[in-house]
Amino acid sequence: MRLGFLASHNGSNMQALIEACKTGTLQATPAVVISNNADSGALARAKRESIPYYHLSAKTHPAPERLDQSIVDTLLAHHVDIVILAGYMKKLGSQTLTRFAGAILNIHPALLPKFGGQGMYGMHVHEAVLAAGESETGVTVHLVTEEYDTGAIIGQEKVPVLLGDTPQSLQARVLTTEHAFFKSVLQKIVRGEIVIPGYSVFNIE
Ligand code: GRF
Repeated sequence: MRLGFLASHNGSNMQALIEACKTGTLQATPAVVISNNADSGALARAKRESIPYYHLSAKTHPAPERLDQSIVDTLLAHHVDIVILAGYMKKLGSQTLTRFAGAILNIHPALLPKFGGQGMYGMHVHEAVLAAGESETGVTVHLVTEEYDTGAIIGQEKVPVLLGDTPQSLQARVLTTEHAFFKSVLQKIVRGEIVIPGYSVFNIE
């Protein structure tokens, strides 16, 4: 299973998956990393790991449909099976969504459908969870569609909210869970224990 990553910032989820590939706990290959942010930690990590990487953004491709095309072409050139959004802050274009329909996964730092959608990213999510007085939050891996955070849920893991939590402490606890959970979801996809519409271990040519 060849993974194509799209990431805008730090890339710690991506790194956790790369480590799992390196140790063999995840039988997959990090094939390519794409970022809309030339200075992202994700691109620096890709370089360090000798994974092909590309900065593709409105700066490199001002026309949105050309950017979309370039993203698809790059993923296809690296024979990507599953596209992983690991902190990717842009919406995907229709060409990418169509070509990889059912094979694009995102990780969200809350229990969707709660605390998702426009504006619910980064620390905003954890601030909202605390403001709502929730006793638990969590992590969601879901399929990507044209709207933020609305595709079919593939898996969720709960994380407790503790007395005295700050948005920062909650974010740290959730992020640790993200790293382990994303890996376990992908392991199940590789083993055929979770089936997503756009990828099957049983009919790879
Ligand atoms: C994670 O919290 C993820 O759930 C969200 O963006 C963040 C990315 O963090 N979609 P990192 O770049 O993987 O460290």
